Parts: sequence; C-alpha cells; structure tokens
Amino acid sequence: MKNPIGIFDSGLGGLTGYRALRRLLPGRTLLYFGDTARVPYGTRSREVIRRYSVQDANFLLSHGVCAILVACGTASSNALDLLEQTFSVPFVGVVAPAAEQAARVAENGNGRVLVLGTSATVATGAYERAIHALDPKIRVRSAACPLFVPLVENGHTRKGDVAATAIAEEYLLPHADFRPDAVLLGCTHYPLLAEVLSAVLPGPVLISAGEASAKAMASLADSLPPSDGVPSDAFFTSDDPTLFRREASRFLGAPPDAPVHHVDIEKY
Ligand code: DGL
Repeated sequence: MKNPIGIFDSGLGGLTGYRALRRLLPGRTLLYFGDTARVPYGTRSREVIRRYSVQDANFLLSHGVCAILVACGTASSNALDLLEQTFSVPFVGVVAPAAEQAARVAENGNGRVLVLGTSATVATGAYERAIHALDPKIRVRSAACPLFVPLVENGHTRKGDVAATAIAEEYLLPHADFRPDAVLLGCTHYPLLAEVLSAVLPGPVLISAGEASAKAMASLADSLPPSDGVPSDAFFTSDDPTLFRREASRFLGAPPDAPVHHVDIEKY
C-alpha cells in the first residue's frame, strides 16, 4: 500500500466521498478517518473546527498519505486554508468542486442555487463566494440545516419518515418560491436525505458535495506519487469501531470491506 490517499470527515458523512472515490480510483489505497467521538463539527466555533481539522490531517499523514480529501463541508469551509498552509501534501475540499457543479446546472437553468449546509459552513459564505467567483450573475441563497446531521446519524433518512419530512419542510419550504435549479448539499451527510428532500422540494438537481470532491481528487490522481496498485483500505474512528462498522453500512450500502481501527485523535 504505497502512497495512499487520506479522507476525513467529522463522522460518517464523508463516506459519501469515500464511496465515490473508491469507484473512481480502484487501484489506490484509501484511508478514511471519521471523528465520530467529536461529531458534529457544524455547531462548533471556527477555532475548534480548525484545531480538529489539523489533528485529523496530522493523523492521516502519520500513515503516509500523499494527498487528503477533506470530505466535510464544515472543515472545508472553515479550515482548508489552514491545512494548505500547515502541510505540504495537496488537499481537495468539497466547496470548489460542488460549487462548480452547481454553477454549471444554474447556468443551464434560471441561474439559481440553494445551498444547504451546517451552521458553521453557512456562516462562512464559502459556497456563495465559490459560485460567484465562477459566475457573479448566479443568485445564491443559503440555509443552515443544523438538524439534518442528527437525523442522518440516527437513521431518519427514508422517504416518508415523519421527523425528517417535517424538518426538511421547515428548512426548504421557505425557499420554494426561489425555484432553485440546483440544491447544493453542502454537507456530506445530506445525500442520505436525498429522497426526503426531493419529496419536499421536487424539481431541482441535487448536488452531492462528497461526490463532487471525489471527482476532483480522482482527476488529481495522475499527478500524485504512484501507488503499487494493490489497494488495502482501512477505516479509523475516534469512537467505537463496532459502532462505526454498523453505522457505516448505511452510507456505503454494505458493511465496510476493510478493517476498522480505533484512534486516540487527541494525541495528534
Ligand atoms: N459531514 C459534515 C459536513 O460536511 C457535517 C457534520 C458535522 O456537523 O460534523 O459538514
């Protein structure tokens, strides 16, 4: 397992990015760290999110990764600059790749994007800036959806789920009159709510920040140091590996096909 790619998230949401990258780069080892003991990041201060993100990257670098996918909207929007200044490996965050996809959809439609994210992500305005850097004419609205992560983490993701539907209505219906072409799921947990969201607000294209970032990382792969073509993935969690294994199945569509190890993240 030469030159693996590291991926981290505050918890399990980044597995939406892992899953896409696993498909796109079949010959590269992927090491995933989910900070499940400290999730959520999205309700924390910028300072804490930055400190946690540096620890997460430090841990992956201790395992020799040659690049890192920050598969977390909250860490990408609050800490990507710090990570890039602190470490010498390339980082790919979710903001720019997802903004690019959303801008493309909006340009072919009515020029409107609705961004959904955690409170800490929406507070940075990072997605709006990234979309406007591509096309200042696109109209962008953003909505913080702090209850979506606990819903996903607790398995309330099926279409028709009463709690998920009520909360999605609360967040989305005030923006129905905006008629977005694209709804940018700016938190990597949110794709699990795709069916619920489409039932509440039918029509817009849903953009998965995790998948968009995986594509961006895959397109960088040729410029990375070579792998030996024998992938041996591993998952790391700051909480209980048994819990991680069980919950990860919902994000991966099957139980993780690789060992899950515990890591004491405060040491990094
Ligand atoms: N998956 C994280 C993100 O993309 C959010 C979860 C959290 O609040 O920690 O923003």
